[in-house]
Amino acid sequence: MKNVIELHHPLIEHKLSILREKTTSTKVFRELIKEISMFLCYEAMKDAVLDDVSIETPLEKMDTHRLNEDKYVFIPILRAGLGMVDGVLSVLPTAKVGHIGMYRDEVSFKPVNYFFKVPDDIEHREVIILDPMLATGGSCIDAIDLLKEKGVEKIKFLCIISAPEGLQKVYEKHPDVTIYTACIDKKLNQNNYIVPGLGDAGDRIFGTK
Ligand code: PRP
Ligand code: URA
Repeated sequence: MKNVIELHHPLIEHKLSILREKTTSTKVFRELIKEISMFLCYEAMKDAVLDDVSIETPLEKMDTHRLNEDKYVFIPILRAGLGMVDGVLSVLPTAKVGHIGMYRDEVSFKPVNYFFKVPDDIEHREVIILDPMLATGGSCIDAIDLLKEKGVEKIKFLCIISAPEGLQKVYEKHPDVTIYTACIDKKLNQNNYIVPGLGDAGDRIFGTK
């Protein structure tokens, strides 16, 4: 799919193998989510447009380029997306942060939206949605729908693990949104969990099960 960028790097594969392991502690799990999120953000900023600036080094004046960090908004999908915020903010420390609360109904697997708080002028900003898991794609599609309804035009989606079925659905509905993923896994199981996956990301980040 043209709109999906998968990170191919030995460091990512190494970190993912520890992240997926069922005996990995909550502490290490959180650290790895943060680290992989930094790499995803680095990749997602590859096409960023820089402003011209003139500066002075201790030796001479020079013309160079800077990013207007302020125009970016990170939007974690609660809960699990919160685990990615520290990592992306360490790459873009002055970006804004909005929040979308969504959980997947355990019977219908459909996302339920319970919270939405984003900067007032969101339509003038570039949005980067954060959620470690893209399974059926329902949460991703609904989050993008909500932001487009608010007039947002530039949206990217960062996730740690994704399923081919969900990526296909997102592409059909929102082909303009680029998805950055550390790994595209094999498939969804009968409970719409990603396999091999890593289990329930929210529970593993917050130690709730
Ligand atoms: C998980 C995950 C995504 C969603 C992915 O959230 O963090 O938001 O499921 O599934 P989908 O692609 O099929 O929509 P969950 O419902 O477990 O909520 P939580 O983050 O509060 O644990
Ligand atoms: N949500 C998760 O946390 N894990 C999955 O595998 C699917 C949805």
